[in-house]
Amino acid sequence: MSFVITTPLYYVNDKPHLGSVYTTIICDAIARYKRLLGEDVIFITGVDEHGLKIQRTANAKGIEPKVHCDEISEIFRSNWNKWNISFDKFIRTTSNNHELVVNEFYERVKGSDDIYIGVQKGWYCVGCEEFKDNPENSTTYKCPIHQKNLEWKNEENLFFRLSKYQDKIEKIINEPSFIEPIERRNEIINFVSKGLKDFSISRTNVSWGIPVPDHDNHTFYVWFDALLGYVSAISSNSPDHSLEKSIHGGWPANIHLIGKDILRFHAVYWPAMLISAGMEIPKKVFGHGFLTREGQKMGKSLGNVLDPDLLLSKYGNDPVRWYLIKDIPLGNDGDFQDRRFVDIINNDLANTIGNLLNRTSSMSRKWFDNKVPNNEKISRENKLEHLAKIAVVNYLDKFNNYKLDLAANEVLSLAINTNLYLNDTQPWLLIKEKEKLPLVKEIIYNVLESTRIIGLLLLPLLPELSSKINDQLGSLYKKEVPWEKQLIWGLLIGNSRLPRPVPIISKLEYDQI
Ligand code: MSP
Repeated sequence: MSFVITTPLYYVNDKPHLGSVYTTIICDAIARYKRLLGEDVIFITGVDEHGLKIQRTANAKGIEPKVHCDEISEIFRSNWNKWNISFDKFIRTTSNNHELVVNEFYERVKGSDDIYIGVQKGWYCVGCEEFKDNPENSTTYKCPIHQKNLEWKNEENLFFRLSKYQDKIEKIINEPSFIEPIERRNEIINFVSKGLKDFSISRTNVSWGIPVPDHDNHTFYVWFDALLGYVSAISSNSPDHSLEKSIHGGWPANIHLIGKDILRFHAVYWPAMLISAGMEIPKKVFGHGFLTREGQKMGKSLGNVLDPDLLLSKYGNDPVRWYLIKDIPLGNDGDFQDRRFVDIINNDLANTIGNLLNRTSSMSRKWFDNKVPNNEKISRENKLEHLAKIAVVNYLDKFNNYKLDLAANEVLSLAINTNLYLNDTQPWLLIKEKEKLPLVKEIIYNVLESTRIIGLLLLPLLPELSSKINDQLGSLYKKEVPWEKQLIWGLLIGNSRLPRPVPIISKLEYDQI
């Protein structure tokens, strides 16, 4: 059984912004974690290339949509590589293989008698690629998300019989594990309780889309096409690519991690489409919050967009990952604050974790011939061992429940406690008394061992820092041994060599990002 995790398929109207980096980093951490637990992970990301929004963006640039999409898709792919994102599949919705799956899926839905032709009238937001509910209640006719004018549409479209699935969808969304967090589930329950309306799945005024096979001039509605990217991605690299192949290759997804603005598509429309096609529904849809900057919505007009490229080149991958994972409870909105970013990285990573390793390794090398001391085990109880064991149990529990911020905090607490232990026991004073040597060995061993566990726990969260910690402790991590087994206390080998300490993370300077 595979573990399938997806990011949204990002619109290629522009290069990745901090919001898309955020979702992708969280998915990456989960994918890495599941792999470490031995699961067969399929981590899917990709781009959503069709629709009016992309068509207009290309037109505005005076280039063919295909040329525009090729360029931006490549930027996405290379960006994820720069961020060290461990994706397994990168799906482009303009690929032939994807088109094949969309057509097969359409045939299935048609076979369930869920498609009919009708007239679609309503107010449309091109930014969201979505008809808006009751905008007549609003005085402005603007999309609340994009703050742009809505457009009136009145055209012949093909419709999907969503209303037929009212009871089934109600049952699905009331399942506590299906939508998280709970506030988002309640929003959806409220929306569905008002009664589901059929929605249009084709367009006659959008040329940049997959043609509907049996209706000239119709292209598939971009969301109908895009959601299927999650399915087509699974068999995207196989020569005999097909819907059936994807279904047997790992479908259904275990988790779709998305922003809260696109929850309806994933938690209501998508399951209904899948049931209609005789397919299984995803196990979970997790709607995360929105990122703001210094308390304000990020936007080009406000001039406060934080360029992730700049963050990456200036501060590196791990600091950004740590801030986004540890500082924002998954599901809540989060704020990126420059000063807070610098303070958190300096306190947590440079001082608490980096210095701990650096100074302990230096002491050990100086006193024990460049080696880890033997663990003399002379104290009756080992406080640090106890704390580390609790941290590991809690960390796994939090991570399993997608509480990544709390899992990260477990690692940090262990590092804080290890520093306290070191400061309380003061081995630098004990070393002056000859008879205390066994005690000093025990203390240093404990601190280094705790640091080894801290490094291992950081592996899915901060892969680069984790690997530096491992290097500094003499490269003990073994890929072939199950990660969980290596979290057991006491595996640090006494008398093993310690390499010369180098700083694993440098302190950041605060200057306007
Ligand atoms: N193409 C659709 C998704 C199709 S999935 C089959 C789409 N793309 S998007 O590029 O506009 O948005 C991708 C994700 O970015 C969404 O989950 C959205 O919620 C998220 N974010 C957009 N702005 C954001 C922030 N400021 N903060 C966090 N996430 C944000 O929608």
